[in-house]
Amino acid sequence: MKKILVTRNLLPENEERVKKLFDAKLNKADNILSAEELINQSKDCDGILCIGGNKFDKAIIDQLSSSVKIIANYAVGYNNVDVDAAKQKGIVVTNTPEVLTDATADISILLLLGASRRAYEGRKHAETQSWNWSTNFLMGKQMSNKKLGILGMGRIGRAVAQRARGFGMEIHYHNRSKLSPDLELGATYHDNIKSLFSQSDFLSINCPATAETTNLLNEETINFLPDKAVVANAARGDIIDDAAMIKAMKSGKIFALGLDVYNGEPKINEEYLQLDNLFLLPHLGSSTKRTRIDMGDRAIDNLETFFSGKTPLDKVN
Ligand code: GLV
Repeated sequence: MKKILVTRNLLPENEERVKKLFDAKLNKADNILSAEELINQSKDCDGILCIGGNKFDKAIIDQLSSSVKIIANYAVGYNNVDVDAAKQKGIVVTNTPEVLTDATADISILLLLGASRRAYEGRKHAETQSWNWSTNFLMGKQMSNKKLGILGMGRIGRAVAQRARGFGMEIHYHNRSKLSPDLELGATYHDNIKSLFSQSDFLSINCPATAETTNLLNEETINFLPDKAVVANAARGDIIDDAAMIKAMKSGKIFALGLDVYNGEPKINEEYLQLDNLFLLPHLGSSTKRTRIDMGDRAIDNLETFFSGKTPLDKVN
């Protein structure tokens, strides 16, 4: 039986399956393992089921035991793993696409709505049980008949578009390449950021974190947005330059921001926490029971396929 280091707790349904198929080395404390622990605890393992975004940079990968042949990442994003370093060492990396598309698209819409309709301030007022209703009380921005820019029109971006059409939004997007008409479904393609941003009353970030997308929203590009734009990020914190965004939120250039992901999470830039026009969640994109079970199954499927001698469905390197 192949031995697998499972870095965090799985849901019981997944844990049962992983224990049946593999000699599973569990981390019952469910803490985030340090680099040293990852290296030491996987010394006698054939693979790693990486849960909760453990960082596998080049330095760690280079020190992994040569017995480790696969890192199955329990997430669609895999910016936590240096896939080139893994490839060089002969380690296959997999992710869990598709199964979390709907859950994450829902969260993107929640962020857009929560930010634009001032849900955070609303909650604070409601808690006082003595708010002073007036005709201009906590007025938000309405999504209907507005243009939604989607940065990254992959599976999640397209699921956001599908939902946003239901709100009466006009869809615009930027992607590495233009989609075919059956995937575009009438959305307008922009081949550059400036063109997309200048049309985006609302902007939803749904692209992967890569060297090219790091700080893609920065002092220069935020200024391409119309005044009082609403931005939502359900992808990765690295895509926003926080200092530039905070400045734009303070000046009113950005009406409101919805965030589910952060640079250096779970830490959050302290200045964000002083702002009322921020609607924030603690990385809940895929957090429904159905989705989490499906993510576990997908990661376990990838391990099973790999150890049966075939190429896993979700190999990314
Ligand atoms: C969640 O952030 C994921 O990448 O699956």
